[in-house]
Amino acid sequence: MQIISSSTQRTELYEKFKLKIIHNSCLDRTLVSYQGNKQTPFSSWFKYREGFSERLVTYLLQTFKPEPGVLIDPFSGVGSSLFAASALGWQTTGIELLPVGIFATQARIVIQKIDVELLKLEIKKLTQINFQDYYDQLFKFNHLAITRGAFSAINEEQLIGYISYCNNVIQNKDISRILLYAAFCILEDISYTRKDGQYLRWDSRSGRSKGNSEFNKGEILSFEDAINRKLKQIISDLNINSIQLDLFSDDSLLELATKKSSIVKNTEPNLYEGSCLEILPTLQENSIDFVITSPPYVNRYDYTRTYALELAFLGCSEEKVKYLRQKMLSCTVENRDKRNYLEDYYTAKERYQDFLKIDFTFKSQAALQEVLIILESYKKEGKLNNENIVRMVGNYFYEMCFVIYELSRVLKPGGIVTMVNDNVRYAGEEIPVDIILSDIAESFGLKTRYIWTLGRGKGNSSQQMGNHGRTELRKCVYIWEK
Ligand SMILES: C[S@@+](CC[C@H](N)C(=O)[O-])C[C@H]1O[C@@H](n2cnc3c(N)ncnc32)[C@H](O)[C@@H]1O
Repeated sequence: MQIISSSTQRTELYEKFKLKIIHNSCLDRTLVSYQGNKQTPFSSWFKYREGFSERLVTYLLQTFKPEPGVLIDPFSGVGSSLFAASALGWQTTGIELLPVGIFATQARIVIQKIDVELLKLEIKKLTQINFQDYYDQLFKFNHLAITRGAFSAINEEQLIGYISYCNNVIQNKDISRILLYAAFCILEDISYTRKDGQYLRWDSRSGRSKGNSEFNKGEILSFEDAINRKLKQIISDLNINSIQLDLFSDDSLLELATKKSSIVKNTEPNLYEGSCLEILPTLQENSIDFVITSPPYVNRYDYTRTYALELAFLGCSEEKVKYLRQKMLSCTVENRDKRNYLEDYYTAKERYQDFLKIDFTFKSQAALQEVLIILESYKKEGKLNNENIVRMVGNYFYEMCFVIYELSRVLKPGGIVTMVNDNVRYAGEEIPVDIILSDIAESFGLKTRYIWTLGRGKGNSSQQMGNHGRTELRKCVYIWEK
């Protein structure tokens, strides 16, 4: 039997929110600058493709809360929101599950306090040594199955020699960490792989057969070239930064400089490594003024595969990577459901009533249930290219209910949540993530101020809600207020 796709519930929800869906052209200009040379120096050292523009953070804070307060990002990635907010005097907290983002954020904390002259001295020494001479078996690259063969033998040997030198020879832990971070930033450049959509793409020169397609990623740098370029870039960016600080040498600006340095000291980000599903429930209620965040999108993107080289560099074993994949907010077809685990967690915290309330909100979100029923029928008809897509979509929203409930709880009255996210489509069926999440937020006492769209405009109208494979999907920033 052919199932007819119905979009009644989604259309109704669209009608409820349509006046809030507004195209914000300021945001386009701010976000367009994300890629490329308008990034802050630090964020251009390591390409975290999911990181957002720090100018967006500044824009959001200045628009809604010009007076600094307490900010949290529960999916903090490499910490863009934390550092941009810190620079404006905010006290910031980040939660990040993957060691990749944690390592990058910690490196940036260290770099803010680094003795630049000492770093330059160590880098100068580095340019004169042969890395292979320092090769220590202890630091050999702990490959995962999906990274094996990613480097040429010579590049891998030099990389390990460099890591060994940083660990065994360099005494100053902060300098050593920054030098290791430089190597972390060039792993893709010196490898046969390229981060591409949902997985690592392999260059045919690797000799590793991955499908039939002949892929050539272009120039693959030697370790020596790549690390020298990266270190040069770091020093040049740090020099510019210290020149900017020197501008404060004028007496009349001294006060400002003192203020600036005291702000930097006071607002070093507070970072939690782990899942926000576990950490948010431990935070005090009514304690946060502002949330800026971008959760994973429900688009099958697998961070643990894309960043496999970096995870291996950081010493993650195969088991650890599998563990992290399951701990992540469900956004891949492999994620299993966390319902029992969340029930146990909330019960152990003596918050079973909260669990029931969140669980009920998920089950009663009509537009979402409409989508899930349709996707389930598509699954039975064999119309989905992976049958776990339904499970993924259900789990994504289930877990987001917990995140949003907790954000609403920890927010002070008058506090603001800003969230960047994209709508998605499976088997031609639109999932209006923006209005579903906004409706869930409203069930938990938040009010939707705007759903700002990016790109060309408002996206689809209510008439186009259901199965309309080619209409534009909205990319949005939601603004909710307590
Ligand atoms: C879209 S990215 C956010 C990037 C961030 N805005 C930045 O500028 O770097 C989503 C992040 O959420 C992290 N993440 C996924 N599941 C998580 C969880 N359960 N708890 C905390 N972080 C999680 C991912 O590792 C990823 O870094």
